[in-house]
Amino acid sequence: MGTKGNEIIDLDIDELIKKLNSALADEWLAYYQYWVGAKVVEGAMSGEAITELTEHADEELNHANLLADRIVQLGGTPVLNPAKWQEMNTCDYKEPNDPAVLAILDQNIEAEQCAIVTYQDLLNFTKDKDVVTYFIILEILKDEVEHEDDLQQLKIDIEKIRNQN
Ligand SMILES: [Fe+2]
Ligand SMILES: [Fe+2]
Repeated sequence: MGTKGNEIIDLDIDELIKKLNSALADEWLAYYQYWVGAKVVEGAMSGEAITELTEHADEELNHANLLADRIVQLGGTPVLNPAKWQEMNTCDYKEPNDPAVLAILDQNIEAEQCAIVTYQDLLNFTKDKDVVTYFIILEILKDEVEHEDDLQQLKIDIEKIRNQN
């Protein structure tokens, strides 16, 4: 933990670490939801969905990495036990019981919308108080906004193709 680096932070660092750990739990669950979704998805245009889901999974893992690095830098410990993910998370894990492409896309759109709200809250929490965390969160939020848009766009494309047949 850098002493001066932490001194310039004008908020409760323990509370910040708690929020970042909750977001970290969300990211692992988001990673797995995409990853396993890409394994089980079925139906027309599932190839396009697999490409998108796999790409998003990689990006969620990168978010987990960014959050864990910042938690350590702040003097905290990233959540050590996966059993805690479903206790600490903010966004629910959505089990992909229905392998239909549109069902999987809908679940992931819902998850992204929760992520967008969570990161907007974290931006509000850190704004003008912890500029370093703020910019990390901003970078993640930009990805989540893009993820939601990608999935909604793919859904529109799939629905268009289905209506033509
Ligand atoms: Fe993410
Ligand atoms: Fe995302």
